Amino acid sequence: MENLNIYNPVKIHFGGGLIGEAGKIAKKYSDTALIVTGKNSMQKSGTLGKLVKILKDAGVAPIIFDGITPNPTINEIDSAAGIAKEKKAGLIIGLGGGSPLDSAKAVAVAAKGNIPVWSYLKTPAEEALPVITIVSTSGTGSEVNRYSVMTNPETGEKPGFGYECMYPKEAIIDPEIMLSMPPYVTAATGFDVFVHAFEAFTGKAKNAFSSAYCMQVFYLLKDNLVKAYDEPDNIEARGNMALASALAGLAIDISGVGIIHAMEHPVSGNYPNVAHGAGLAALTIESMKYNLESCKRDFMLIAHHFGIKRAGKSEDEYAAALIEKIQGILAALNLNIGLKDLGVEKSKLAKIAGEAFTTMGFAVQNNPAEAGEKEVLKLLEASY
Ligand SMILES: [Fe+2]
Repeated sequence: MENLNIYNPVKIHFGGGLIGEAGKIAKKYSDTALIVTGKNSMQKSGTLGKLVKILKDAGVAPIIFDGITPNPTINEIDSAAGIAKEKKAGLIIGLGGGSPLDSAKAVAVAAKGNIPVWSYLKTPAEEALPVITIVSTSGTGSEVNRYSVMTNPETGEKPGFGYECMYPKEAIIDPEIMLSMPPYVTAATGFDVFVHAFEAFTGKAKNAFSSAYCMQVFYLLKDNLVKAYDEPDNIEARGNMALASALAGLAIDISGVGIIHAMEHPVSGNYPNVAHGAGLAALTIESMKYNLESCKRDFMLIAHHFGIKRAGKSEDEYAAALIEKIQGILAALNLNIGLKDLGVEKSKLAKIAGEAFTTMGFAVQNNPAEAGEKEVLKLLEASY
């Protein structure tokens, strides 16, 4: 019997219109909040303006930092932390997709300490400002876990990190905010949900708790991933994808990710215009083929949750049918792509393979099939 320690302290508020509660929730923590967000989408959709009003009405003074880019850099995070310190913000609110949410957690750590945020990769953080996440996409899972991913623009390194003090205090998951998500973002972030659940379910660190979350994720993805892309105004599908995202976020908080994420981080670290989910899409099929023999039973269980019929299929055929199913989903999402389509240069593959180990080594180790740098380079080449 294996020993387990399961801990997740995030208070989750799920439901349409719940952004309206943000003021009341924020007021519990501080009278001054730094909103960490991106440059465009939250302004265009009116969500940022709405949040500012809600906070002011509740007596919380909002300060806006809207300089977060899609693959947030350590410079952006340190700048935001400097503003939080200068303005004496007692709360960080992450508003948007994975990038602002990840950044909010990193800002909360850097604003409490006296060293640049990059130093926290080696120096564990003991304390952070409280964080509230308000998520606008369905993919990251960042809204409910402790993880943050940041890019060093000088080296292209894109490591993930997460300490216990980085758990958001509360997460607001309001599917109405997600109605404004453009199709490409819906597809890419939605596919990220699948990879989170797939890697948590097949990884060496899997356990009964993460697996329970993952099985519900597969079940939700089966009917809602492509539907949310095809029918952007379908609030039911949006809501189910938001649930799937949060559940997968909880699963990776327990059991981590694997080789697909290990390879993708250096891809989008070196090519900041590549969306995380698109990078994953390019890498998933070859990685699934690589892992199939190591966790065939898991593949079969996932196939079952995706509604694939077993009748007449051998174990090998049934497990392989999952890969075909995922290929079909990628095609339906217009994400049937290779690394070449994302602008990745072939000459960079060796650097990317190396960085999978130096920045995401824990994820390679968690992968069901053993892989060294040579195998990872082969996978990158096959995914080109
Ligand atoms: Fe991810």
